[in-house]
Order: sequence, then C-alpha cells, then structure tokens
Amino acid sequence: MVALTIDGREIQAEEGKTILEVAGENNIYIPALCSHEAVTPYGACRLCLVEITRGKKKRLVASCLYTVEDGLIVKTDSERVTNVRRMVVEFLLARCPDLEVLQKLAAELGVDKVRFKLEEDNHKCILCALCTRACEEVVEASAISLVNRGVDRQMATPFYALSEACIACGSCAYICPTKAISIEDIGDTRIITMPHNTMEFKLKKCQNCGRYWAPQKQLDFIIKKADLPADAFDLCPDCRD
Ligand code: SF4
Ligand code: FES
Repeated sequence: MVALTIDGREIQAEEGKTILEVAGENNIYIPALCSHEAVTPYGACRLCLVEITRGKKKRLVASCLYTVEDGLIVKTDSERVTNVRRMVVEFLLARCPDLEVLQKLAAELGVDKVRFKLEEDNHKCILCALCTRACEEVVEASAISLVNRGVDRQMATPFYALSEACIACGSCAYICPTKAISIEDIGDTRIITMPHNTMEFKLKKCQNCGRYWAPQKQLDFIIKKADLPADAFDLCPDCRD
C-alpha cells in the first residue's frame, strides 16, 4: 500500500493503481472521457489532468496514466487544473460543438464560450480510442483503428470499407462516450454506423422461435475461439433454456 493525499485527504491506496482509479474509489470526481477499466489507459482526452507535488516540484499529469506513489500530494481542482481543463473542453468543443457530454462538462467548468475556431466538420468523435482499444484488447478483433495524423486523424475501418475483421459485436458502440458509433438491428440485418462509414451484417435466426438474435459473424468467431460445435448457437438463449 502507498499513502498519498488527494485534495487534502489522506488516502491509503494499492500500489500500481492510477490516481484516477484511487480518486474514483474514494468518491473524488475527476472528469475523464477516454478511460475505461476494461482497456489500458491511453491519455487521449487530457480532461483528467491533476496537479501533483513531489518534493518541491509541482506539475500537471494525466491521472489516468500516473500511478500513485508514497507521499504524493494531488490536487484535482486547483485553479491551474481547472483552467487547463476549461481549455481542453474548449478544444474538444471546437471539434464537436453539439456533443451533449462536452456541453455538460463545459457547464460544470463554467465554460460559456469557445475561443478556438470551430472545425468545419461537426464531428461526433473525440478520437479517444476507447473503441479501438476495446476492439483490440477485449474482443481481439482489431477491426478499427485511428488513422492519419493531426487534423486528419480519424477513427476508421481499413480503407473506410467493410472491415473483414469486424464481428459486429457492438463493443465499440457500447464503449464510445459520445455515441459516435450506433447500432441498429432491422429484420435480419445489423447496421453499424461509424463516423466515416456504415457496415451491414447478417443476424442469425433461431431455429426454434425464428427470432434474429445475434450477428452470424460474432457467433462464428466464438465457435472458433472456444472450439464449440458448429451448431452451438442454432437456438437463441430463450429457446435454449
Ligand atoms: S468513435 Fe467514440 S470511442 Fe471511438 S474514438 Fe471516436 S469518440 Fe472515441
Ligand atoms: S481520461 Fe486521462 S487523458 Fe482521458
């Protein structure tokens, strides 16, 4: 265990945990848009910046990346932290002005106008890479990635086309903090709409009740991975019981 101070509170924390995790466990709020316990930290959004003091040195660090240390003093809401967070929200709003999650953060931080030039495209994607990390680390499909650099950076499938590796599981849509990816099942088809393309996948029909209940590609993926019999998913969960 290590002993640290967050916002004046003395806290015992497990070694190896990040400041963001420890703050969360102790009900100390730090805004964070690109962090999720299911995937490795990435440090993309910079909203989780906090001020740390070690000896005589003070600096700002991303709390989702920085692991706790004995004697560390952390401030999550100092003036310096709040000012930087406001600027980060303004940057994000310049890219994605209509995002509810950003508008809410702006209101929390007292940001009432954006000083930066609005980007031409009104994006929904904040390039947090939660979807790509979930796809790679949790699903192990690696169907999407962040491509290009600078202002051309985008989340995309290879060549902006139907990704062969995509199993249509929807993890990307589930984890996306901005709803930039959506999923709709219509009849026998699952439609996944991404910021730069739309993909369609066939759903499997239950051989008993006739309901279309899961993407065929996802079921094939599980059968192969878990070495299950080919007819393992012929029935939907309701008809299997
Ligand atoms: S689509 Fe969503 S999860 Fe993926 S990078 Fe963009 S905002 Fe993040
Ligand atoms: S949550 Fe730490 S940089 Fe996004």
